[in-house]
Amino acid sequence: MTSNLIQASSRKDAHIDLSLDPETNSKGENSFDRMRFMHCALPELDVKTIDITTSFCGRALSAPMMIGAMTGGTARAEAINRALATVAQERKIAFAVGSQRAALESGQSAAYLRDLAPDIPIVGNLGGIQLARPSGLDLAKAAIDDLQADAIAIHLNPLQEAVQPEGENDWRGVRDAIATLVKANIAPVIVKEVGAGISVPVAKELFDCGVMAVDVAGFGGTNWARIESARRDHDVNLFVPFLDWGIPTLECLLNMRDSFSNRHIIASGGVRHGLDAMRAYWLGAEMISLAGPLLTQLLRHNKTPSPDSLSNLVVQLQRQMSLTLFLTGASDLAAFRSKEALIDNKLILDLSRLS
Ligand SMILES: Cc1cc2nc3c(=O)[nH]c(=O)nc-3n(C[C@H](O)[C@H](O)[C@H](O)COP(=O)(O)O)c2cc1C
Repeated sequence: MTSNLIQASSRKDAHIDLSLDPETNSKGENSFDRMRFMHCALPELDVKTIDITTSFCGRALSAPMMIGAMTGGTARAEAINRALATVAQERKIAFAVGSQRAALESGQSAAYLRDLAPDIPIVGNLGGIQLARPSGLDLAKAAIDDLQADAIAIHLNPLQEAVQPEGENDWRGVRDAIATLVKANIAPVIVKEVGAGISVPVAKELFDCGVMAVDVAGFGGTNWARIESARRDHDVNLFVPFLDWGIPTLECLLNMRDSFSNRHIIASGGVRHGLDAMRAYWLGAEMISLAGPLLTQLLRHNKTPSPDSLSNLVVQLQRQMSLTLFLTGASDLAAFRSKEALIDNKLILDLSRLS
């Protein structure tokens, strides 16, 4: 392995440990707390028959839920990904892997993940900066082929790279590289942030490039400025004003819903439980992705992956999602979107009325 690849691998392991530390989570109010649903005291439904099933990338799912992109490329990451894929297959939810770059560049395959999870959507992952390199398109093809991925996610993380000690800060050419990847028509392309959010003008540029979906990955959960800052031994003060920089996830979703009513939006960033997931769904997200909270649950016991522990959390999240529908009097996801909600204590009857 070259020293760059060794560095990338040890960085990934450090990211896992630091993401488990509550100190690296975003501080302050979680934006989802601004939203409530109108309670229905007469649901006329049996909670056991609430239907939250859906589909994504043409595959049936038990709920609009995805394990968010996290890791890959090291022995520890492989054990984590095996557990995540096993739980995703067992619970019929989508599974996104973390950046495949380090693994692919060192000749490692993660094809075993497709064997573990043959029926669910698997989403590959590469960084926007890597995609913009001369070999970027070939790397993306290899990433999709290796997993037989249903889609590939390209992550945009300029804040994280800016604070990361080894970060790369030349973002020129990334939009064109995304457009080239879309045109190559290898797999549907998703573009995501990693916790600082995607604004409407950026989403418009991405949809104009032809991307299938935008995952807002907003501010409020795992905080990459804090994680990278904790890895720094110099210039720490330089980044202090930026530690809680980003667009809160609820804000992203409200803006997206106003601007792109017919586009595919994925929600992530600070989703804590099934009620938050349904808040995001009501606001127009078709899939809800969680990363940090699932990893924390998976590694709860001495940092050894426990698929059972994660599987139990997924069941709990899904029960919370069903309960949200039940308590608004909605029997399924379509009916749920027409229910009333309050944002900042203002009643919202219909999303199109949001100013
Ligand atoms: C340990 C860890 C590693 C991550 N690695 C990646 C990555 O390689 N690629 C990516 O697109 N996002 C990565 N993310 C970001 C997540 O996919 C997600 O966008 C972000 O953590 C916000 O979601 P959360 O608040 O539910 O954690 C990572 C997150 C965690 C916790």
